[in-house]
Amino acid sequence: MSESAKLSFKGQDYEFPVITGTENESAIDIAKLRASSGLITLDPGYKNTGATKSAITFLDGEEGILRYRGYRIEDLAEKSNFLEVSYLLIYGELPTQSQYETFSKEITHHTLVHEDIKKILEGFPSNAHPMGVLSSLICALTAFYPDSLNPNRNKEEINLSIVRLIAKMPTFAAWAYKNEMGHPVNYPDNSLDYCSNFLKMMFALPAEKYDVDPVVSSALDKLLILHADHEQNCSTSTVRIVGSSQASIYASISAGINALWGPLHGGANQSVIEMLEAIKADGGDAKKYLDKAKDKNDPFRLMGFGHRVYKNFDPRAKIIKKAADDVLEKLGVNDPVLEIAKELEHAALNDQYFIDRQLYPNVDFYSGIIYRALGIPTDMFTVMFALGRLPGWIAQWKEMRENGEPIGRPRQVYTGANERDYVSMNKR
Ligand code: MLT
Repeated sequence: MSESAKLSFKGQDYEFPVITGTENESAIDIAKLRASSGLITLDPGYKNTGATKSAITFLDGEEGILRYRGYRIEDLAEKSNFLEVSYLLIYGELPTQSQYETFSKEITHHTLVHEDIKKILEGFPSNAHPMGVLSSLICALTAFYPDSLNPNRNKEEINLSIVRLIAKMPTFAAWAYKNEMGHPVNYPDNSLDYCSNFLKMMFALPAEKYDVDPVVSSALDKLLILHADHEQNCSTSTVRIVGSSQASIYASISAGINALWGPLHGGANQSVIEMLEAIKADGGDAKKYLDKAKDKNDPFRLMGFGHRVYKNFDPRAKIIKKAADDVLEKLGVNDPVLEIAKELEHAALNDQYFIDRQLYPNVDFYSGIIYRALGIPTDMFTVMFALGRLPGWIAQWKEMRENGEPIGRPRQVYTGANERDYVSMNKR
């Protein structure tokens, strides 16, 4: 029996259908709210508003559950790999051996980029933030593949764009880093797996042999899996709303990269390390900063703690914490910044102030630590987040387009001046 919700307003009763998803989440369908009552809803930040129905990712913030297409993130992080998870998110099912081999081969075949891309790259000063370079190069794909601008492209053409994005994003990410370093770029090495190829493009230097450390490559693959999707977060919602105007997938993903850049979203992992380095520069007294975080008159806030959705713990953080401990031990990393991180982590997990406010270490806290241990430079951390989130963005864009969702166009409540006559203030 279908449920409904009733609303009373100015003596009039209204009834709206309630829909329930496969995990028993329920929502009031207000598609007819304005037409029937003249009312709209107001929900800044959309904390109580569902933008869509989606079959891609399920998360339960209260229980700390995260699943991609029904598979637990814990199982995927332990048993799968990033390309297989990308296929799962985008196409809805785990690939057969043959499908996986075809997908991997197509991606390997498309890792190279047009030589003219280097001219765009060389136009950026070396102090350009890699996220700005990355979003620009991804959007530049619209110029090299103008067919992508046609909103009525068939499935094969869209799949080609998907393969190009997954294949070329690591190349662009590594080239953005090389531009920052003032080093010559490295071309892809198609004999390597996805993460090893990226690491070699990032860190190989001319005339020097570069061997990828399998510990680093494996840790990076796990990190990318853990960041691959997260339902309707800020950057994914951006990709969906840009895509809803029938903009190309390249323009939509470029917009998602820019949304992720903000310190309240993907930039948080960079802010975590910057916070830890500032504490170290100020003498390394973690307790001093924990006290500052508790002082409501002090503007200092702990970065990398708590989460908008998860109310007890971020399941990704638990996995990354263990991976960070493993990597630090295997690589023999001894970094004072990481010691400060462990003191903050211990306090947050044991201090009632932080426990009461659910300020536990989140995915950004630990990912910043592990990227640092892997030798990834700080301002590349958010680029790593984008690399991981790419298949999620693609999957959500594809679902939105396949479901024929309308253009996103929210309403508003106007609070400005009422009608007034024009009287010039300038005695011209
Ligand atoms: C994410 O993974 O996108 C972040 O945790 C932010 C979010 O989900 O709101």
